[in-house]
Amino acid sequence: MSLIMLKNLLLSPFLSFIHKDFHEIVKRMTLVDKFLFLIVHFVDKLNLWHRLPVFFGLLYLGARRRLHQQYNLINVGRTPTGVRSNPADFPYRTADGKYNDPFNEGAGSEFSFFGRNMMPVDQHEKLKKPDPMVVATKLLARRKFVDTGKQFNMIAASWIQFMVHDWIDHLEDTQQIELRAPKEVASECPLKSFKFNKTKETPTGFYEIKTGHLNMRTPWWDGSVIYGSNAEVLEKVRTFKDGKLKLSKNGLIQQDENGKIISGDVRNTWAGLLLLQALFVQEHNVVCDVFKKEYPELEDEDLYRHARLVTSAVIAKVHTIDWTVELLKTDTMLAGMRANWYGLLGKKFKDTFGHVNVGGSVFSGFVGMKKPENHGVPYSLTEEFVTVYRMHQLLPDKLQLRNIDVTPGPNKSLPLTNEIPMEELIGGKGKENLSRIGFTKQMVSMGHQACGALDLWNYPVWMRDLVAQDVDGNDRQDHIDLASLEIYRDRERSVPRYNDFRRGMLQIPISKWEDLTDNEEAIETLREVYDDDVEELDLLVGLMAEKKIEGFAISETAFFLFLVMAARRLEADRFFTSNYNEETYTKKGLEWVNTTESLKDVLNRHYPEMAEKWINSSSAFSVWDSSPEPHNPIPLYFRVPKQ
Ligand code: HEM
Repeated sequence: MSLIMLKNLLLSPFLSFIHKDFHEIVKRMTLVDKFLFLIVHFVDKLNLWHRLPVFFGLLYLGARRRLHQQYNLINVGRTPTGVRSNPADFPYRTADGKYNDPFNEGAGSEFSFFGRNMMPVDQHEKLKKPDPMVVATKLLARRKFVDTGKQFNMIAASWIQFMVHDWIDHLEDTQQIELRAPKEVASECPLKSFKFNKTKETPTGFYEIKTGHLNMRTPWWDGSVIYGSNAEVLEKVRTFKDGKLKLSKNGLIQQDENGKIISGDVRNTWAGLLLLQALFVQEHNVVCDVFKKEYPELEDEDLYRHARLVTSAVIAKVHTIDWTVELLKTDTMLAGMRANWYGLLGKKFKDTFGHVNVGGSVFSGFVGMKKPENHGVPYSLTEEFVTVYRMHQLLPDKLQLRNIDVTPGPNKSLPLTNEIPMEELIGGKGKENLSRIGFTKQMVSMGHQACGALDLWNYPVWMRDLVAQDVDGNDRQDHIDLASLEIYRDRERSVPRYNDFRRGMLQIPISKWEDLTDNEEAIETLREVYDDDVEELDLLVGLMAEKKIEGFAISETAFFLFLVMAARRLEADRFFTSNYNEETYTKKGLEWVNTTESLKDVLNRHYPEMAEKWINSSSAFSVWDSSPEPHNPIPLYFRVPKQ
């Protein structure tokens, strides 16, 4: 009897317990993975993991992540063999992301392929089934703005766009497509029809997935949102003096003689994104000053390289242990995200004893691991990753400006002065308005305003008649209906629909609408739009409709994808692992990253009065007049979720 037969024989008593859609994949799993799958599947059937005591919740997430690392990382394109670069030749982040992976110089570079987390599902026969404009009108378009309460503010919304512009952007074709509103919804569509460029299909030269899409941004966590994704943009943003980047005297992003912004990424921008770009250019420049003082022998190029490494690491750290913790506000996730950076033994232990290189990332986190780990698949971000980051619902209809010249009220609250429609804050107008408002007032106002909730019927209607921009930041002539376009894009890119996506992620598929939501009106509309077929449900709509875990601003389905990809951004990058050392970052550089724990720390550095005067909340990503987190005497790993 072969080993495989023996393993399957052992599995047979469990098959009746395992959902039928997973029988095939489980048969192909190794014995250890079969065992892990059984545990994960059992917990899923009881919908239990987020209700487990923190320590057990972490075990579940660890098991789930391991399964995704084995079964949900798929390379698109060929993997070069036999070519090796020497990491010592590139002890810095290159302009176009090349040479990070010594075995694959192009991994994570500008114009590399988007990878996949599951096999593509071709939908070219049903690109318009159901019609994207019907889906957008009946299920996405905002009826009344719903916000996230005190949990997440407009800085948090801008932050994730800041990250998206660091990681991903699909290369477009020149061929145009037109979508027309069907009669049944035409009167409710701000645009009766609109044109846009097709996503460019590129042959992969590989038999399994024959075509793919190219990423115009370097997917590494390398700060390309401020440095650009190639040498040409990098040259524009650098001053070539003391390592610094160009910045206006007022602390905002500089403009060229034609009034165009000089930044690593200038596409589809708005005042909130420009503000975060400016903040991290300030950060970069201060790091340069500190390095110059500490290491006077360093010249422009080295100062720039070290400061870029440090600034990118600060961004990654703020995202990991501050932004994500506010997005997924539970004790288990607080422990989990801190474990990604510091490991289960925590910061104090890591600071004292360094990275414990036993058990990979478990004890001391991904950062500082001896070797990068890509699980045998060259690093990229994926098509599915793009979809789960489609979060335009975070954006409100208006930005609320606060009066910062008066003494703040209780909880540091501030009176409203006026509201500006979001349309006035995007593109060229946004840049001008931001210059008038100024850094401090814009940041404080965004801090005091809650962002939109990721729900059905909360997609900004102003984005259904949007002036989009090309890569150079020029306004496009054809306005777009972004809500409808997003539905179309996922189908065009062969991203599985909601139920197939769940199967791909080893999550139990839904069998009826009631498995997705309790909202009766939503169920009725979903039935109508999708002809009562749950298999047709678009991923984006499913993510918005799904019942949320208490404390989670996103769906669980989206979260499981983050679970694997958030780890990957750190563990596959040698600048967070084998090269996360004094030699590469300098001693001062590592100290800088290690002593920065949050966005509040960064703001404090550049605007020392800001936190003291206007931030009452613990995190700069929650609404600033909310109460700080109360002290919890129970050690984190022993806490039990309340629900
Ligand atoms: C005012 C702010 C924003 C504007 C004007 C804007 C506009 C756009 C436009 C025009 C596209 C390209 C659509 C296409 O051709 O497929 C896009 C893509 C995208 N946006 Fe936004 N967006 C904004 C904020 C955000 C925010 C807050 C998020 C949150 C995560 C976000 C996430 C994305 C993602 C994931 C894509 C897909 C990128 C790709 O196809 O590779 N955007 N956005």
